[in-house]
Amino acid sequence: MSQSDLSDVFSAGDGLPETLPADPMPTLGAWLDEATRAKITPNPNAITLATADTRGRPSARIVLCKAIVQDPGYLVFYTNSASRKGREIAANPHVAAVFHWDASGRQARVEGRVVRSPDSESDAYFASRHWASRLGAWASEQSQPIASRAALLEKVAEKVIELDLDLGAMLDGRPVEIPRPDYWFGYRLWIERAELWSGGTGRIHDRAVWTRTLGDGDRPEVGTWSATRLQP
Ligand SMILES: Cc1cc2nc3c(=O)[nH]c(=O)nc-3n(C[C@H](O)[C@H](O)[C@H](O)COP(=O)(O)O)c2cc1C
Repeated sequence: MSQSDLSDVFSAGDGLPETLPADPMPTLGAWLDEATRAKITPNPNAITLATADTRGRPSARIVLCKAIVQDPGYLVFYTNSASRKGREIAANPHVAAVFHWDASGRQARVEGRVVRSPDSESDAYFASRHWASRLGAWASEQSQPIASRAALLEKVAEKVIELDLDLGAMLDGRPVEIPRPDYWFGYRLWIERAELWSGGTGRIHDRAVWTRTLGDGDRPEVGTWSATRLQP
C-alpha cells in the first residue's frame, strides 16, 4: 500500500496545509469566521478560559471572544474584574483559552498574558450592549454568594433607582445611557502560543503549534512566530 492510498484513508478534511503558514492568526480568524457563517452553534466565539490562582490551581469557564486582532495577535474578552477569574488574572496574568467548533471538527488553543484593554474600547463595547446586560453588570457582584434569586432581582431593581434609570424607556426599547462600572472592562489576551487542530480519520488529526516571544508591559513586543507540526 502506498502513502497516497493511506492519505486517502486518513484524510484530515480541510485541515492545515502541508507547508504551515508562518503566522497562525489569519487561520484562527478564518476558522472563527467560518464557524460564525455556518450559523450552527449560537456562540461560535465562546472560549473556555482557564486561569490559575496564586497556588497554581486552575479554574475554567466560558467567556465570549469579542475580537481577534490578528496583528499584533491578541483576542479580547470582557468580564467583571472582581470576579473569580478577574481576581486570578490580577494575581497571575498568564491564561489559556480554547475554542471548540464541533461541527467543523476544529479546535484552537491559545496561551499568553492578559492585559487590560484601553478604557475607551471598554466604554464603546459596554455602550453597544443591550440595556439589560449593562444593568446586570451593575447589579451582579460576579462570583459572590447571594441568598436567593429574589435577592438578586432586588439588587437589579435597586440599581435602577441608584443609577436613576428610566425603566419605561428601557422597556419601550428607547435608548438609555448607562455608564460602564469601573470594575467591568475588556481584557486583551496577547498570544504567545497558538495551536490549531483539525479532526481527521482514525484519530490522525492535523495539529500544529506556533510559538513566539512576548515582552513585558501593556503593549508587549512580540517575536516572530515559529511553527511546528505535532503528532495528534
Ligand atoms: C455561552 C456563555 C458565554 C459567557 N460569556 C461570558 C463573558 O463574556 N464574560 C463573563 O464574564 N462571563 C461569561 N459567561 C459566564 C461565565 O462562564 C462565568 O459563569 C462567569 O464569568 C463567572 O466566572 P468566574 O466566577 O470564574 O469568574 C458566559 C457563559 C456562557 C455559558
